[in-house]
Amino acid sequence: MDIEHAEFVLDPATPDVHADNVRLREAGPLIPVEVEGVRAWAATRYATLAVVLTHPDLSRDIRYWDPAAKAAAPLDTAVSRLAFDTSMLNAEGEDHHRLRSPVSRSFTARRVQELRPRIAEFVAHHIDRLAAMPPGPVDLRLEFAYPIPRDVISELMGVPPSLRDELHELTDVAARVGDTPDDVTDARKQLYRLLDEIIEMRRETPGEDLITDLIAASEQEGDARLTRSEVLDTVELLFIAGHVTTVNLITNASRVMLTHPEQLAAVRSGAWPWSAVVEETMRWDSPIAHFPMRYAVRDLEIEGVPVRKGEAVIGCFASAGRDPDRYGERADRFDVTAPTPSHLSFGHGSHFCLGAPLARLEGEVALAALFAAFPDIRLANQENGWRPLGTVLGNSTRHLPVVLGR
Ligand code: HEM
Repeated sequence: MDIEHAEFVLDPATPDVHADNVRLREAGPLIPVEVEGVRAWAATRYATLAVVLTHPDLSRDIRYWDPAAKAAAPLDTAVSRLAFDTSMLNAEGEDHHRLRSPVSRSFTARRVQELRPRIAEFVAHHIDRLAAMPPGPVDLRLEFAYPIPRDVISELMGVPPSLRDELHELTDVAARVGDTPDDVTDARKQLYRLLDEIIEMRRETPGEDLITDLIAASEQEGDARLTRSEVLDTVELLFIAGHVTTVNLITNASRVMLTHPEQLAAVRSGAWPWSAVVEETMRWDSPIAHFPMRYAVRDLEIEGVPVRKGEAVIGCFASAGRDPDRYGERADRFDVTAPTPSHLSFGHGSHFCLGAPLARLEGEVALAALFAAFPDIRLANQENGWRPLGTVLGNSTRHLPVVLGR
């Protein structure tokens, strides 16, 4: 096996990511894949992914990527764009600390819990919007799962309300991959212009928000200082990481509740908390399918597979969440009535998701309010086609038509 002979293509348009994942896991713990024109090793199983996420000789620093592979990587794909981003995501050691610490204190469990009432207000507002809609199917992803994390992250970042819609439209297009690369490039340029404008506004009128914190970190003297492009990339990362992942979580959790009425009833009766639904959804239907990329700092071996210096390794998060070696007979079964064993869907080690407490809280508050407000909510039709998002990174459906049953 070598990385030049990819056995699988990670296909963003696949109709069934979980079926693909069975094939990936069966092919081996570390297999050569092609992902958006890039060759990489894919960690398909839970134990292998845990090793990859904490391996001292696998770095997120793009300088370790083989120069020929880097030069050949198509630029306008989600995988490449994330790889070239200069935020904490792709930094290690002191640099990682420098880029993460200006925002990390805002994401501690305690600070995030303080946001609960504000999140509940946003959620209540969107429930009222749903309740006021004419009868007939409603796209729950678009009308509910989507705007809640958008409002929360915009407020945390300090984006003025008048610019929120435009910002998120651009983020959406910029984060998309596929058939209209010109639109994507254009949207990215506009997005950077808009982010620049917002950063300038906050520089002139500082607030109690993350962009103000990042500006302060860019204006201080000494080694901890952030460059202008690092501030921009961090702001963009927080918008993308803080938004679409959580949209996927709320969409996937709503869908699983609607397809498992007996478990929904148990949760509604109070026998199981909504936080358990969030956790089991994270495992069983990870909002992230595949997450790029780490590079081998030297030749190494993982589970007997030789990985050469400079080669890339990506993680298959949705696949790890259903690995029978880890989860036994429960692997493919959603079960909120037994505690969820730990999962890797928020990562592991030094790059563990900064926003995990926030995503969990948003999920819990949104789901509890939705299912309390609409006792008869159901899927609009049983077919309810699961349409892939069209990106290799996310795992969710593009639409979730429901009847609210008011
Ligand atoms: C990192 C998943 C929500 C910000 C990560 C990583 C994963 C992940 C798997 C680790 C990547 C790695 O080690 O390679 C998720 C999921 C979410 C979610 C599934 C929603 C359900 C959020 C939110 C925010 C956020 C709400 C911010 C508001 C970040 C940041 C990193 C990160 C900044 C990079 C951390 C670092 O490199 O040190 N996320 N995330 N995420 N996440 Fe999240």
